[in-house]
This record gives sequence, structure tokens and C-alpha cells, in this order.
Amino acid sequence: MDKPKVVLGVSGGIAAYKACELLRRLTESGHDVRVVPTASALHFVGAATWSALSGNPVSTEVWDAVHEVPHVRIGQHADLVVVAPATADMLAKAAHGLADDLLTNTLLTARCPVVFAPAMHTEMWEHPATQENVATLRRRGAVVIEPAVGRLTGVDTGKGRLPDPAEIFEICRRVLARGVREPDLAGRHVVVSAGGTREPLDPVRFLGNRSSGKQGYALARTAAARGARVTLVAANTHLPDPAGVDVVPVGTAVQMREAVLKAAADADAVVMAAAVADFRPSEYAAGKIKKKDGQEPEPLVLVRNPDILAEISADRARAGQVIVGFAAETDDVLANGRAKLARKGCDLLVVNEVGERKTFGSEENEAVVLGADGSETPVPYGPKEALAETVWDLVADRMS
Ligand SMILES: Cc1cc2nc3c(=O)[nH]c(=O)nc-3n(C[C@H](O)[C@H](O)[C@H](O)COP(=O)(O)O)c2cc1C
Repeated sequence: MDKPKVVLGVSGGIAAYKACELLRRLTESGHDVRVVPTASALHFVGAATWSALSGNPVSTEVWDAVHEVPHVRIGQHADLVVVAPATADMLAKAAHGLADDLLTNTLLTARCPVVFAPAMHTEMWEHPATQENVATLRRRGAVVIEPAVGRLTGVDTGKGRLPDPAEIFEICRRVLARGVREPDLAGRHVVVSAGGTREPLDPVRFLGNRSSGKQGYALARTAAARGARVTLVAANTHLPDPAGVDVVPVGTAVQMREAVLKAAADADAVVMAAAVADFRPSEYAAGKIKKKDGQEPEPLVLVRNPDILAEISADRARAGQVIVGFAAETDDVLANGRAKLARKGCDLLVVNEVGERKTFGSEENEAVVLGADGSETPVPYGPKEALAETVWDLVADRMS
């Protein structure tokens, strides 16, 4: 089988060097990558680097190898075009259909999915011109990844940083796997919760659970690759921030409730994949609870935590908002799942059987997605991202 053909456009931002890492990940995972830098990009990383790392010729202009008509052919033959970093200038040119170098010509001739990973100073990103260009590109079907917040060129920090190349690669992989030009969650805001809450007993101890957050992160990555604006409310996870996703870290169930309610106010869908503790200690000891000679410890008194899934399902922030819950069951999985779906009042419930091969922290999952409409969608044992794709398929059906 031919290798999937990827065009890696590189425009002239300081983050151009990070595209070398993206290029390496793409080539090592079996893609044929043609790097098309702009003339400005070559001020940051030279043509020799792009050519040696990709194994393909590199040109910035339409006037090289004219007999091959590269200004048309490169775009026509591509399975994916990813521009990383995308400068403010490149976003403007792409939005307005300019074609004054090889990359801008390629963007006009490509019929495949296109991903832009913008990187620039916060002022440039927030400028209405840039924001309107981004909106235009998204409306036309491109996936424009929100920049990360962090250190920028020089001493500045803020929004505008290129997301981690490993995470841009994850978006590219998923966009390529879906192979559709129109991202079906474009223009949607989705909220995902992930991880496991921790309920502190004292400054050093907590009641927690073994949720790793991997399923929630797979849901967030997948939604971003399908064009959604994603807020990920993450409880005690130790995973890299997915590209283009706004991550809100929380610790306890009460903090998670607050963050989810806030984000859900304008959300089209909320997927509660986090393991939220049902109970918390009734009291928090400000100092470490000490052993006392000859005495048994005081019994632990617990109180109920808020039921976030039931609350947001009963009191939807927006008409038509789709709400998805997760349930881990050990026996009578479907009957218990159906009862929980009815009790919580959500639209979909992803029921996992917890047991052998289906443990917390693994890369795989197997589940049945129950619908309030009586539907039942089994998802066979496989990567968590496959389950995530099925969840978004079902959510997208209900949103439309
Ligand atoms: C040191 C330096 C760093 C720059 N970094 C960025 C950047 O991160 N993002 C951006 O949009 N422009 C950046 N620019 C400005 C662009 O290089 C400039 O707009 C150029 O015209 C972009 O050309 P291109 O879009 O064809 O690559 C930078 C310029 C310099 C000199």
C-alpha cells in the first residue's frame, strides 16, 4: 500500500524548529511527507534540514521543477495538509485565497483535510483580523488548533504558543484516519471531564480512585480533531495537554462541579468521563492526623458529594445540550447501566465492565453505549480513541 501523503507546511514563526519533531513523528509512523516551507520559514530552519529529514525535495517557490507543475500536483496528491507553525500572515493569505508561493498554491489545490497549528504573539492572535481569518478557515472546513498558553518568544508569556508537536501529530493521525474534509464538530463547544477526584482528609492524605484520565483525554483529542472547541476539566491526571484543548485542572468533586457548570453554560455537549467520588470526609483536618499510642483511630465519617451528572442532566444549561455519562459496573452490566441512565436523566451512558483486561489505566476499553431512546451500541475491545469516536458519532447525531 502507498504511504499516506502528508504536506507539512511551515511558515515563518520562531516555532518552526518544533516542526522538525512533527516531521520526524510523521515519517517514522509511515507517512510520505513533503515539506513546503515559506521563504520566511527558511530564516529559522534551513532547506537542508527539511530535505534530509523528509527524504524529499524542498522548495518555497512555484518556479522550481516547473515541468512537474508542483503548484498544483503537491496539493492534489495530498491526503493531509498540516501547516505548523501557521503565522498570522499565513492564516490571512489562506483565508483570502492568495497564492504567491508554493505553500499558498498548495492550500488552494488541496482537496484533502487541512490542519493549521497557529503560533504567534498573543496580540497577533487576538487581533480581530486574525480571529476573523481563523473563523473563515474553520467555516470552510479547516481544523484550526487553538494555540497553547505559555512562554512565547523573548520574555513574553500568554496565548499563542505552538502546542506540543507530539499532540499536533495526534490530531493529524486522527484527521487522517477519519479522512473527511468537513470536521463534523466544527463550531461546537464540548466539555469533557477526565481523571479521578481526590477528597482530602488532611494535608497529606486523600480518598481517591484509580482513574487515569486516558479515556477522557482520548475524548478531548478526538473532539479537537473533529473541529470542536474543547474544554477538558481534568482531575489529578498526569497526561500531556492535548493540542487545541483548554484544560481546567481541578482536585475535588466540589471543584469539578464548579468547573463543569461554568464550562457547560455555553456547551453543545458535556461528556462526564471522570470518576467523581460519591463521598468525601465530613471534616478536613488542617493538621496531619497523628497516631495516638494505645488508641484506635477515629472512625471516618463521610458525606455525599454532589451528583454532577444528574444535576446537569436535570437542569440543562442550553436547550438541546447532549449529556453523556460513564458507568463502571462489575456485574449485571446492562441492567445496572439502564437503571443508572434512567436515574441520571442523561442522553447516553457509556457502560464499562470493570474486570480483567478492562482495568483503569489501560490503553484499551470495551463498552456498550446506552441511549435514552433505547438504543444500544456495543463498542468492541480496542483503543480508547475508538470508543471516543463512537461517542462523538452518537453525540453528533443527537446534536443535529
Ligand atoms: C524572530 C521572528 C519571529 C517571528 N515569529 C513569528 C511567529 O511566531 N508568528 C507569526 O505569525 N509571525 C512571526 N514573525 C513574523 C513573520 O515572520 C512575518 O509575518 C513573515 O512575513 C511571515 O511570512 P510567512 O507567513 O510567509 O512565513 C516573526 C518574525 C521574526 C523576525
